[in-house]
Amino acid sequence: MHQTGLRRFSPTLIFSALPFRPAVLFLLLGLALALAPNCSSVPKSATGAGLSAAELRLRHRVDSVLARMTLEEKIGQMTLFTTDWGSTGPTIREGYTDDIRKGRCGALFNSHSTQFTRELQRIAIEETRLKIPLLFGFDVIHGYKTIFPIPLGEAASWDLAAIEQSAHIAAAEAAAAGLHWTFAPMVDISRDPRWGRVMEGAGEDTWLGSRIAEARVRGIQGKNLGSTDALLACVKHFAGYGAPVGGRDYNTVDMSERYFREYYLPPYEAAVKAGAATVMTSFNDYDGVPASGNRYLMTDILRKEWGFTGFVVTDYTSMNEMTNHGVVADEKEAGELSLRAGVDMDMQGGIYQRFLQKSLAEGKVTLAEIDEAVRRVLRLKFMLGLFDDPYKFCDAAREKRLLLAPEHRATARDISRKSIVLLKNEKNALPLAKNANIALVGPLADNKSELIGNWNGAGNFNDCISLLEGLKAAGTGTIKHVKGCAVEGNDKSGFAEAVAAAQQADVVVVAVGENAMMSGEAAARAELGLPGVQEELVSALVATGKPVVVVLMNGRPLAIPDLAAQSTALLEAWWLGTETGHALADVLFGDYNPSGKLPMTFPRSVGQVPVFYNERNTGRPYDPNSKWTSKYIDMPNSPLFPFGYGLSYTTFDYSTPVADRSVFKKGETIQVSVTVKNTGKRAGEEVVQLYIRDLVGSVTRPVKELKGFQKIMLAPGEARSVQFRITEKDLSFYRKDMSFGAEPGEFDIMVGGNSADLKKVKVRME
Ligand code: NOJ
Repeated sequence: MHQTGLRRFSPTLIFSALPFRPAVLFLLLGLALALAPNCSSVPKSATGAGLSAAELRLRHRVDSVLARMTLEEKIGQMTLFTTDWGSTGPTIREGYTDDIRKGRCGALFNSHSTQFTRELQRIAIEETRLKIPLLFGFDVIHGYKTIFPIPLGEAASWDLAAIEQSAHIAAAEAAAAGLHWTFAPMVDISRDPRWGRVMEGAGEDTWLGSRIAEARVRGIQGKNLGSTDALLACVKHFAGYGAPVGGRDYNTVDMSERYFREYYLPPYEAAVKAGAATVMTSFNDYDGVPASGNRYLMTDILRKEWGFTGFVVTDYTSMNEMTNHGVVADEKEAGELSLRAGVDMDMQGGIYQRFLQKSLAEGKVTLAEIDEAVRRVLRLKFMLGLFDDPYKFCDAAREKRLLLAPEHRATARDISRKSIVLLKNEKNALPLAKNANIALVGPLADNKSELIGNWNGAGNFNDCISLLEGLKAAGTGTIKHVKGCAVEGNDKSGFAEAVAAAQQADVVVVAVGENAMMSGEAAARAELGLPGVQEELVSALVATGKPVVVVLMNGRPLAIPDLAAQSTALLEAWWLGTETGHALADVLFGDYNPSGKLPMTFPRSVGQVPVFYNERNTGRPYDPNSKWTSKYIDMPNSPLFPFGYGLSYTTFDYSTPVADRSVFKKGETIQVSVTVKNTGKRAGEEVVQLYIRDLVGSVTRPVKELKGFQKIMLAPGEARSVQFRITEKDLSFYRKDMSFGAEPGEFDIMVGGNSADLKKVKVRME
């Protein structure tokens, strides 16, 4: 079905006869707009006051294209397919080049490199009727070619500038490889380490997660959309995907609206308000309605409450999966539910493509709904500058210059070492002397393939520096490497050689953990210990009496109480990416003093999960001496390592915090200061954390909530006063009637180096 009206004057007919000239195209389009009789398709608001000239012009350009499109072409702009390259699920449609030619697909993912994207874009520009440029998306989650630590690892740096920089480099490399759009940041809060996708997020905390979400959006999108070193961000997975029942991926999410708004929604909102251009739906249902058909989420909250103006894309075939959820009878109905909910683009499901025309003919959806979705997509293509130069991201020289650039590797090394968390350091086993004779043991000690972790973009593990390579480059002693065992399996035949090497060494460094595919999508685990016989290997090494430094490489918090107890030192190194070996050597030899803090609680046992720091007090709070309190009879409530925890090679002392006044009025800001002193012999960085507790509320309040932090560097013996400003918003919450605001009364303000070890001052709001 063709749209009528402007067909009488079609600038595209003129362009098709011309060689492609961006400036000419724009000029003619402007002329066409001026002459076109049917400019009434510009939205009414565009004619109103208050819109900038640039916004008006953008709307005119979008509408001029829209007015020339057939229904099939419109639906094409609402359709995203993967190429055959590295898809993450069933590829239900092949032959995407044919779709491009017919204008039936406006965006592709898993297509990258300037060569490949240029060829696909050429088809769109030279072989389609309207020459609408394609949009290329990809999961650039923690690096494109230079791979940075997994996002959970980066969150452990508590360094927002470094996180932003990492996202920016990832975007710059990806944009240099022809890409326009990344499916990041993933901002799903999760309290369940069984869920494999915790590796992609910023951990369990709402406030930290929100700040990191903003930093990542800023890093990805750069100064402005359309810069050739930036991408469109896609906030995902909206919403609540991090809280599947039992930690099982794709599972149902069910919680009160209060918890949803208080703990889970803020990072999405923060990312949207930081300007994220697109949003991805999640696979789960929320309160009985799958996200991809959930109008409350996609329209009421996202657009109406938060003012989101970009487009919404489904997750991979999640529109189709609404038939399995059992809320629609067939795929056609699924498409109708999605469109009406506010979903603009269908990822890989082909539902809009196959059924939307029929749904329109039957009156199940309206042309206005379709037009609005298409406008949102075209708008971003215009903002990227693709209508002016569809090949602007296809510069092979830039691609060659930027991918794995030395300065990118240097930045990756820096954030990698910032992401490492020192969990234990008995008898100051670390740092190691440079000339120490080391037995380097473990399945991940000379490994590269797992180091880039899951979701590793276009990374090549051969570019990684292994731990063995890193230690060899930095140390001067002998390094004897023995694998000992594999990550998985029962084979202990390598133990004897590992033990022999340990006996000859001054110190044992043992690298154990998970394989990369044990975390990420569809990688939930019911057990949270070290897989295989790795822990037994560590025990055999400990039995030699030598100091044993355990280096963990994994994608989630692990329940490893025995491992922690028997190790002399314990480092959480996640998957650090391309610069793993260098970063770890920097920390192990003390060229860098570790400063990372856990962004997620480490349980003692999987039976404690979910275990998180910002719980409610309950009517019977934990008392080790009373049976009738909220507890387990077989282990304490406390975790193995709490949220915010991490040691340094130096020590810090905290004063009791002081508030500038103990009584203040609603609306006023109070200032809290604390003096932090470096009481050790090395310079070191400390993440000074501030938590609050509202002692009496109209609804129960968490026993602690992070509301601020500062990362400071202190020389040995140096003391510094750290100031925090606490606003009314920091003390606000969803009250009994679900309005958001603060309630007068008493608050504890707590400061310290982790969520369990805090000093407090009481203040009162009148
Ligand atoms: C499914 C994942 O859930 C999502 O995060 C990802 O962006 C898409 N696949 C595309 O690869």
